[in-house]
Amino acid sequence: MVEKFLEGKGALITGGASGFGRGAAYAFAERGADVAIIDINEELLEETAKKVADKTGQKVIPIVCDVSKSDQVEAMAKQAYQELENVYVLFNNAGIGVAYGKNIFRVKELDWDKIMAVNLKGQWLVAKSLWRKMKAQKFEPLSGKIICNASAAGLLLIPELPAYSITKVGVIALTKLLAKSLAPHITVNAVLPGFHITGIYLESEETVQTVLDDQNIKIPLGRIGNVNDVVDLVVYLASPASNYITGQCIPVGGGVCI
Ligand SMILES: NC(=O)c1ccc[n+]([C@@H]2O[C@H](COP(=O)([O-])OP(=O)(O)OC[C@H]3O[C@@H](n4cnc5c(N)ncnc54)[C@H](O)[C@@H]3O)[C@@H](O)[C@H]2O)c1
Repeated sequence: MVEKFLEGKGALITGGASGFGRGAAYAFAERGADVAIIDINEELLEETAKKVADKTGQKVIPIVCDVSKSDQVEAMAKQAYQELENVYVLFNNAGIGVAYGKNIFRVKELDWDKIMAVNLKGQWLVAKSLWRKMKAQKFEPLSGKIICNASAAGLLLIPELPAYSITKVGVIALTKLLAKSLAPHITVNAVLPGFHITGIYLESEETVQTVLDDQNIKIPLGRIGNVNDVVDLVVYLASPASNYITGQCIPVGGGVCI
């Protein structure tokens, strides 16, 4: 039996159709939250929303939105507030991993622009569309919580993932700057996953292992990560147990950032 500390609260998750976003949707709903899940993959989004609602009995609202487009983000935020009434937790999670293996000078301009727009600008746009209303909510002692999804790549700076690593350094900076701006009302922290089997790795352990071998990375805790390894930390950051933590960027990668 889990503690329902999100009862009466709304949670908004970007990239919610798959991977960590989907895992967080189940976890938040199981703890009593009504959830808005945001994604560009309409089919998977509908499927995930239905499964989470059926399993948990909570309200789950799927909203199709490209987080890199400000007009879509504004419309999404408006709809989410209308349907949820509040957004206590924002999991700023949508992200892509284009241009693997490219030397930094060989990354195509289109790929650079795309990954910056989704992974970095997207998180800024979504936070920008929600912070005012989140701050005005009458929850005590905090009016809301923002959890960004960065990456171990933002600390390790992986040569095979140059543009991706740079977006995640940006997310780490964004997290700290948002935390300073939104204190003492809203906490803002980031999770930094390592190497986990999700949609970004085509749901394949073999693909993750190939990337690890390619970069000569050994995971100190001796296994590839799964979705729950990260969702457990996200749940902690959404819970009252983390109310005195803000501006922190926490690796959850079996020790890859040591
Ligand atoms: N899997 C890992 O090992 C790993 C490691 C470090 C960081 N991350 C980060 O985790 C986050 C989630 O990725 P995941 O691993 O769960 O992969 P995933 O592919 O399973 O999930 C990402 C979701 O984001 C959605 N998405 C992509 N572009 C979007 C856009 N423009 N607007 C809205 N939604 C969009 C996708 O459709 C997908 O459903 C990403 O930010 C990623 O960088 C993943």
